[in-house]
Amino acid sequence: MLYGVGLGPGDRKLITLKAVEIIKAVDEVIVPGTIAYNLIKNIREPRVVEFPMGKSEKVAKGLAAELVERGDEDIAFCCLGDPVFYSTFHHVVDELLRIKPDAEVEVIPGVSSISCALAKAKLFVSSSAFITTQGFHEIDTAIVLKAKRPKEIEEKLKEMGFSKFVLVEKMFMDGEKIYEEIPERASYFSVLIARRQP
Ligand SMILES: C[S@@+](CC[C@H](N)C(=O)[O-])C[C@H]1O[C@@H](n2cnc3c(N)ncnc32)[C@H](O)[C@@H]1O
Repeated sequence: MLYGVGLGPGDRKLITLKAVEIIKAVDEVIVPGTIAYNLIKNIREPRVVEFPMGKSEKVAKGLAAELVERGDEDIAFCCLGDPVFYSTFHHVVDELLRIKPDAEVEVIPGVSSISCALAKAKLFVSSSAFITTQGFHEIDTAIVLKAKRPKEIEEKLKEMGFSKFVLVEKMFMDGEKIYEEIPERASYFSVLIARRQP
């Protein structure tokens, strides 16, 4: 199993209990740089695999090939913030699934710089928000909270050019469900994710 473990924004107290549990339990821990290394070295000595600018694709390919060779071993790739946002882990997963489409991958979410920056600024998001690294007109992912009527939202987003939809309902609660066929109704505890491309 390959775990992508989020370490939060740099404060040890913002590393989740689940992250610590995985870091202690796996066969090897890999970090992409010294900040992540310093953050977890007291929990477990990790191996550093650097992703230099312009060479990250090559490094991700090499690491994915190594993971396939290592077969059943459990490896945790730990990165800053949350692995789902702009992380090197994404490249590793893409390469791994390209060479081994049935590879097992699990993401352990971390506290993202997005939440932390808002918290530091004491600003609250209550309507819509836009997250990007560049290209203010190119929204490729839309995330809708409180998606109690997800089918209606899906129809509206389709008109805007979105084509892939996932509804995540009651995460980590009794009755957790992940839908790729979007239902008419869902719980208040639902998040709809839409992508412009699959
Ligand atoms: C490659 S992205 C990684 C994002 C990370 N996966 C997350 O969820 O926060 C790096 C960017 O995250 C932001 N970032 C991450 N940690 C930060 C911190 N402690 N303070 C301010 N910005 C941070 C900065 O915008 C930085 O350029």
